[in-house]
Amino acid sequence: MSQRDLIQAGGALFADEGQDGLMHRIFLRGEGFSADDVRKSPVIGIANSSSELNPCNAGLASLAAEVKAGIREEGGLPLEFPTISISEPFTRPTSLYLRNLMSMDVEEMISSSPIDGVVLLGGCDKTVPAQLMGAVSADKPAVMLTAGPRPVSCFKRNSEFTVDDVWPLCESRRVGEVSDADWLSLEGSVNTGVGTCNVMGTATTMAAVAEMLGFALPGSALPPANGASRRELARATGRRAVWAARADVKPQHLVTMKSLENAFRVVSALGGSTNAVIHLEAIAGRAGLRIGAENFEHWSSSTEYVANVRPGGAHLLADLEKAGGIPAIVNRIREVIHLSTPTADGSTWQNVLAVGTFEDHPAISSRGKPLSPRGALVMLRGNLAPRGAVLKAAGIYNPALQQHRGRAVVFNGIADLNSRIDDPDLDVDADSVLVLRGMGTLGAPGMPEVGHIPIPSKLHRAGVRDMVRLSDARMSGTSTGTVVLHITPEAAAGGPLGILRSGDEIELDVTAGTIRHFLTDTELASRPAFVNPQRPSRGFAWLHQRHVLQADEGCDFDFLRHDPTVTGTDTGSGPGARFAAGFDAQKMQI
Ligand code: FES
Repeated sequence: MSQRDLIQAGGALFADEGQDGLMHRIFLRGEGFSADDVRKSPVIGIANSSSELNPCNAGLASLAAEVKAGIREEGGLPLEFPTISISEPFTRPTSLYLRNLMSMDVEEMISSSPIDGVVLLGGCDKTVPAQLMGAVSADKPAVMLTAGPRPVSCFKRNSEFTVDDVWPLCESRRVGEVSDADWLSLEGSVNTGVGTCNVMGTATTMAAVAEMLGFALPGSALPPANGASRRELARATGRRAVWAARADVKPQHLVTMKSLENAFRVVSALGGSTNAVIHLEAIAGRAGLRIGAENFEHWSSSTEYVANVRPGGAHLLADLEKAGGIPAIVNRIREVIHLSTPTADGSTWQNVLAVGTFEDHPAISSRGKPLSPRGALVMLRGNLAPRGAVLKAAGIYNPALQQHRGRAVVFNGIADLNSRIDDPDLDVDADSVLVLRGMGTLGAPGMPEVGHIPIPSKLHRAGVRDMVRLSDARMSGTSTGTVVLHITPEAAAGGPLGILRSGDEIELDVTAGTIRHFLTDTELASRPAFVNPQRPSRGFAWLHQRHVLQADEGCDFDFLRHDPTVTGTDTGSGPGARFAAGFDAQKMQI
């Protein structure tokens, strides 16, 4: 059997009567699998990103047992394997920096293992897009189960304390308004269990995306991490994976412009994370598609913002779950959804809505009374962001800032920001525009979530709670404020952000969708270019610096995007492309 045949054979290798099948069975029998087990079909891998270094995903370890039970119920053989896991709070320099590496790990493990399909177990922000990207590139049947949100906690008099409540306390601590005792108490009060962030941050946003793209079961994004309903979802996911493998449901067929549009319209209706723009473009690229700023803006501007949940709204994720979860959101905006797209339960959104019952609930605005007639994410353009930027309008505290002109106060990187932001002599007032640059995917590297520039402490003490802030960085989906993110090209890639100086006038107009400077061509030409400080000479940093794309292209690596024209060349970049002409037929050697 040739190497290519070995890869394509998947789980059928266990039934092979020759040497290859014997060797496969020998090694599984050594693990304790029975003679009956090693002849079961299909073989379903479980790509588990559970890790003690990723507390949001730690609950996936126990859910894997339920997934296995579901696979066995349908006659399949589950084989669990570990993958890289990326923790939002722990991973340095940033989680996005490692997303593509995790996607390569997932792709290669799916492609290279004798499995017919896979269950993807992810949760924390970057693990879900990384798994989806890898699965789309590997193109074996894949079903996803996300970790689910962690419990809401209690801090002092707030009995519904969620992760977004931490950020204002951090701001208050900077100006001496939180005691040492409260600071210590906070560390034990916020996370009272495993699971993902308990507001509509990036993790829950991407869990909704997984539903909309047809990878995760409808209604699976919101049930809590530690509840019986998530265990039942895990078992059902295992069963569906067997079905998907038998029906040969390919990820490349799930990711279409229609399903991508559905996903982003739901993100817009949810007031979801700005990170979704980057991840959806990256997922699209793995299927040979390009969304582009115009589509993002068109879809967002023609979708009502309806989910009244934190951090942009008033209610808890649990309330949105009671209201019917993501299917209820789809039902609420059904006029702009492609209802014929497939769902992970083997049906379509049309059928899911037909059998669902959706009652009025304050977590979802009623018809005719949206929170906003347009989606919460606004794509910006202008001479300061020639290839685009994004702003989450749902997070603006002060509506007056939506049309604002002010003087720039420029910070070169996070060290400069930290050293000067609280300087009493900093030349800044409430009308200033705070600018942070050098924080893009090349310059940082990895586009850290630092775009939520803190309010200078002297202004914070004076009662200022929001200012216009700009950067080439990202922002946590749990943060809010008038924050322009993902300015592209970034400073380190030669974008105009790199030549701004403190005192330059900047204008933000959310209604017009523009972000502008007023420098003349002569001034622009006379200023020195921003110098990218990153000069890696080896390893993953070297690979990243040479191949990562800008935010408007999803920050994927150029060689990982799917090129349907590639055949017969081993680029490792998509289904079929991985099979090089140079592979020789050979028997498996151990
Ligand atoms: Fe992991 Fe928010 S930090 S989901």
